[in-house]
Amino acid sequence: MIRTLLHVGMTVPDLEVGRAFYELFGLETRAVASDLVFRCEGRAQDQLRLMEGRRKKLSYVSFGTNEEGMKALPGSLERAGVRVAHSPFGDIDGLWFQDPHGDWVNVQLAEPAPSLAGPAVEINAPGNYRRIGRRACDLASLRKRARPRRLGHLIKFTPDVNRSVDFYGRVLGMKLSDRAGDVLAFMRGCAGGDHHMLAFAKSTHTGLHHLSFEVGDIDEIELGAQTLLRAGYKDGFGLGRHVGGSNYFHYIRDPWNSLAEYFWDIDIIPEDDSGWTPLDAAPEELTAVWAATPPPPDFVVNFEAP
Ligand SMILES: [Fe+2]
Repeated sequence: MIRTLLHVGMTVPDLEVGRAFYELFGLETRAVASDLVFRCEGRAQDQLRLMEGRRKKLSYVSFGTNEEGMKALPGSLERAGVRVAHSPFGDIDGLWFQDPHGDWVNVQLAEPAPSLAGPAVEINAPGNYRRIGRRACDLASLRKRARPRRLGHLIKFTPDVNRSVDFYGRVLGMKLSDRAGDVLAFMRGCAGGDHHMLAFAKSTHTGLHHLSFEVGDIDEIELGAQTLLRAGYKDGFGLGRHVGGSNYFHYIRDPWNSLAEYFWDIDIIPEDDSGWTPLDAAPEELTAVWAATPPPPDFVVNFEAP
């Protein structure tokens, strides 16, 4: 049923602190009633909604499906004993319900807006030279900046990874791509696509580990990360390349100690799963092929209050 990730809602104690961070990250802001809504440049789709509240908290995740999915979902929820509710977060269409750990989920009849395609990245790989007589970098490259194209995925903390995988898989139709036992699990939409749109990491309670935005190339990952670091934001982890998803990554701490990730070159899995065999490996094996530094000890700390 769940095919796409649409947007995420978070409560934060100071909207302007959030605006400063996410605008420098590369997103565009607009005020909608008393909230701030963030989009990627040139793409007509909300990606992040900040609502003012007492403390920082991941409030809900909004997913998209098709007509068939919207027809099947109420029955699947009923069979699982899940009650459909009115939106606790204002006028947002679709079905609202809580997952087994009380986190709010919204599923709407919606296609994601197309994201801006970058120019074909032509790489001079050994023995496979594609860029002949043209520079990869010129003086205009010095003015390049990170332009997030879309919200690709998020990782949520959960007290029970197996229970979360069962719910989002059996009840909501997502598929498991890779896992590290009962510590970490990556899930994709029912129609394939990105290696993961939602992943679960074990903690004592729920919360947001990170939001991840796709950028145009590896340069944009570091241009974005270095811009935030120079402005005084705290490094999270990176630059590196994951095994789970294969994407290059750099994570920066947002003002409330959740992580915001830039990613590029993620694995794509076809709808019929052909060619894909899920891994079940140790968490550190899935974390990185390499990274500029080892993951800091706080990389897997849940900074949201229980
Ligand atoms: Fe990620």
